Amino acid sequence: MKVNLAAAKKLIKKYRNKKGVLIPLLQEIQAAYGYVPGSAIDLVSKELSIYPVDIYGILTFYAQFYLTPQGRHIIKVCQGTACHVMGGKELLDYMTDTLGAREGKPTKDGMFSVERVACLGCCGMAPAVVIDHDFYGRCTIRTMKELVKKYRTKK
Ligand code: FES
Repeated sequence: MKVNLAAAKKLIKKYRNKKGVLIPLLQEIQAAYGYVPGSAIDLVSKELSIYPVDIYGILTFYAQFYLTPQGRHIIKVCQGTACHVMGGKELLDYMTDTLGAREGKPTKDGMFSVERVACLGCCGMAPAVVIDHDFYGRCTIRTMKELVKKYRTKK
C-alpha cells in the first residue's frame, strides 16, 4: 500500500536542524498515520542522514511505536498477575472473540486493535484496561460491551 508522505515531509521540515528530535518526530509521524510506515522511515533516514538501523532500533525498543497499521482505537487488556486473577484473561478472550480481533492485527473494520499488556500499575483496580489513553478499572464483560459501543461511535 502506497503511503502519502506529505504529512511526514512537513514534520521532517519542522524538526530539521534540531538536535535530539528523532523520538518526538517518530511520535508525530505515528500520530499522523496511526503507525510509522516503512516509507516514512526511509524518508526520515534520507532527509536527516540517520541510518535506518538506528531508527528501527528506537521503534522496536519502545512499546509505544507500531510498525504496522493499527485499529482506530487500541484496547490494551492487562494480563499482569492481579488482573489475571481477577478475570483479565476472560476479558482478553472476550475482546478477541467478539471483535474478531487477533493480537497485532486490527479488526476487519479497522476500528480496534487488541493487545495484551503487562501490569498497568493499577493492580488495586484489577482487571484493568486502557483504550487509547483512557484507563478503566474493575472491568467486566458488561463494561467491555459498553466500552466497545462507546468507542465505535466516538469521533
Ligand atoms: S496486574 Fe493489571 S494493573 Fe497490575
